[in-house]
Amino acid sequence: MATKHILIVPGDGIGQEVTTEGKRVLEKIASVFGHTFSFDEALVGHAAIEATGDPLPAETLDKMKKSDAILFGAVGHPKYDNDPSAKVRPEQGLLRMRKELGLYANLRPIKLFDELLSASSIKPEILKGADILFFRELTGDIYFGEKGRKNNGDTAFDIAEYSRYEVERIGRKAFEAARTRSKRLCSVDKANVIETSRLWREVIQKLALEYPDVTVDHQFVDATAMLLIKDPRRFDVVVTANLFGDILTDEASQIAGSMGMLASASIGDGPGVYEPIHGSAHDITGKGIANPLASILSAALLLDISFGLKAESNAVIKAVEALLKEGFRSADIADANTPADKILNTAAIGEEVLKRIGK
Ligand code: IPM
Ligand code: MG
Repeated sequence: MATKHILIVPGDGIGQEVTTEGKRVLEKIASVFGHTFSFDEALVGHAAIEATGDPLPAETLDKMKKSDAILFGAVGHPKYDNDPSAKVRPEQGLLRMRKELGLYANLRPIKLFDELLSASSIKPEILKGADILFFRELTGDIYFGEKGRKNNGDTAFDIAEYSRYEVERIGRKAFEAARTRSKRLCSVDKANVIETSRLWREVIQKLALEYPDVTVDHQFVDATAMLLIKDPRRFDVVVTANLFGDILTDEASQIAGSMGMLASASIGDGPGVYEPIHGSAHDITGKGIANPLASILSAALLLDISFGLKAESNAVIKAVEALLKEGFRSADIADANTPADKILNTAAIGEEVLKRIGK
């Protein structure tokens, strides 16, 4: 395989700490399997605002477009959260990146490692075996429609918009994935109330005719929120709009025990972006205790999806499984039964993964 160029974009907060471990894993894979990866780094979010005034500087975007894949950390800073009047915000960097790179499909696998059954607040007997793959649409909806104020600022609006082709292309990705899994697809909308959801359902129903081997279940988003907790195993592949997907995947992260375990892939027309679903977590930044497994599992998705390196990707997942089996935990997934010497910091968890990567 020719040299692959990987751009590391740590962003803010614990983004730096966790992508350091993700990168080390990629380096290890390259050396064990005989590949050449070249690495570069770029700024985004608050870090980029501080340096350049822009949460997605032109230089970053340029490097992104020239890369083969991007390992992304997190963006956000508490100083903006309680300042609704801030015009420039770290999150704008993330949203513009998604739009500029055409990353319309966000894959969020919710897979519970058996070893973490007790880390979740949901009963083990409800959870055991849960394995869901979310397809969240990522470049449309209320996130990207016109927004503003009227009535002297006393009324605010955000327009949700979807076009047929946008629903169709994410729908196809989800149907294709369902074909390779249990052949069940759940499409989530709010078609009883929202017009974009009615278009959504219409398009998915039409697509279903092309995939007669896939059984489609249409659910409303409110019912889905309830069913995810009540009976997570009823779901396999789930496809939904941007805002619903944002909310449901945070909820579903609890099925996997901790947000610190969940990786994601954003794919579209150009290079894919791989990132943890957790945020910048400023409350633990700099303490070295962040769980790097979501970034490491994101690196595994990168190897598989962007580079087609299945064996390499599996080697990473197996290494993670093995260290969990041996009882190692980061603080977020430890429980009352975890011995103190098995609770490791960020770099030590990374080290345990590296040790276990072999062919
Ligand atoms: C996510 C995040 C982002 C989103 C924020 C940081 C803008 O919550 O990736 O899920 O809402 O999409
Ligand atoms: Mg979110």
